[in-house]
Amino acid sequence: MTIQNPNSTHNEQINRANEAVQQTREKMKHAQYRLNYHFMSPVGWLNDPNGLIQHKGIYHLFYQFNPYSFDWGPMHWGHATSTDLVHWQHEPVALAPSEPYEYDEAKQEMGCFSGSAVIHNDELTLIYTGHLEGHTPKEVQAIATSTDGIHFKKHEANPVIRSVPNELGSEFRDPKVWKHEEHWYMVVGTTSEGNGAIVLYKSTDLIDWEYLGIAAKGNGKQGDMWECPDLFPLGDKYVLITSPMNMENGKCTVFVGTLDYNAGIFKPESQREIDYGIDFYAAQTFEDEQGRRILIAWMDFPFTEFPSKAYNWSGAMTIPRILTLDDETQHVRANPIPELQSLRELHTNYDAFEMGANQTVGLNSNSHSHSYELICDVTVPEKIETGRIGLQLRKSVDGSEFTSVYYDIAASEIVVDTTQSGERSHKALNKAPLRKNNQLKFHIFVDTCSVEVFVNNGEVSLSSRIYPELTSNGIELFTENTKVSITSINLWSLKNAEIE
Ligand code: FRU
Repeated sequence: MTIQNPNSTHNEQINRANEAVQQTREKMKHAQYRLNYHFMSPVGWLNDPNGLIQHKGIYHLFYQFNPYSFDWGPMHWGHATSTDLVHWQHEPVALAPSEPYEYDEAKQEMGCFSGSAVIHNDELTLIYTGHLEGHTPKEVQAIATSTDGIHFKKHEANPVIRSVPNELGSEFRDPKVWKHEEHWYMVVGTTSEGNGAIVLYKSTDLIDWEYLGIAAKGNGKQGDMWECPDLFPLGDKYVLITSPMNMENGKCTVFVGTLDYNAGIFKPESQREIDYGIDFYAAQTFEDEQGRRILIAWMDFPFTEFPSKAYNWSGAMTIPRILTLDDETQHVRANPIPELQSLRELHTNYDAFEMGANQTVGLNSNSHSHSYELICDVTVPEKIETGRIGLQLRKSVDGSEFTSVYYDIAASEIVVDTTQSGERSHKALNKAPLRKNNQLKFHIFVDTCSVEVFVNNGEVSLSSRIYPELTSNGIELFTENTKVSITSINLWSLKNAEIE
């Protein structure tokens, strides 16, 4: 469905979008595969998290939203608020395409693309990309402000960045803005001579922006466009997270390095994936009022299937994670926010036990919940050099369907194997390198159609969407060719977060 009226104002487009939400919202609550404690849009299509911020105690989550269809289309900014990052309340749509640089009734490829939020002069200000295919330039940067945190007005100076610097290709989007000392800085994702790149801007008022040039650029093997860049301080370093397009073995890449504000250059010192699962893209971070660096990502990958489209909806966010810099390795760790513990319900604790080689042990066979949190501590005997220890999750009674999560000792990799996760699931072997370790701590979150795995206090994480039968709820520990000691297991069923 397309938007009808080419001359309508922003408010009219917002009202139309809100009406579309109201019409299908109730029905959507019971649609198949809806998650129990992950954020989803009330209806339609969701992609990137946008404008993450905490202001006066309230967390704001905006997101790329098409209220008219389960497919990507004219991009709006959906909006939700929370006091704990777990229980969310849907708010009215914040931004709708309405201006000549982002709106054309005849086009699907248009709208208010991804961006960020800051507080300036006590106003909640959104900085986003106006996108209109066929327009020159097709992407510009714009701002919208709000005094009540709910209703947003597009600025009359828009677009505040109306041309693309000559040295860049036409892809020019996803502004992330932050304050450093007296100035605002903005990174924008782009492409330069066929490589993904970020450019830097500087401003005092969010309206006049000085171009500082290309701050970082790919090396030929890091994709051809860096979507959704996020550049922020962590520990004594700067971290760049970006979602490179067309990169082999990369979807959401994290560089740790240094930022020279005077030269406008970010120098990477290391490169990894921020999450090694297939379904993790367009991550955004923000610093909350407690000084924590929180990350939320879109828990999907744009170039795979979306089985929930069969039930008229698409897209979910990951659980929020806290990022920290590991002093020793200088890598970024990501751990689930502790607020999620408020969802814990039925608790089962298992005493320590030994497992022989090639053994399976079933857990929770009485529980019918498919939403749970599991923490499992394992000790692998010294001198063991091959074998596997792990879990089969969401296992069907007949044993044919399951998702495996295991440590491959020889490769020192954590693997999430979705090849038997159900007919509709994206089948993949997701692998994350782990530092060789005899002690393993698996921290796993499972929901209706997702598995998020954190190992050894966030050294690696892997997020995947799976679409098994709702009755496939078995949990089984297994060993292959090695014995191990299970030192503790804690399992909690998780309550519905009742997102309103
Ligand atoms: C990333 C992305 C962004 C863009 C948005 C459009 O998923 O392609 O680069 O702003 O989605 O919805």
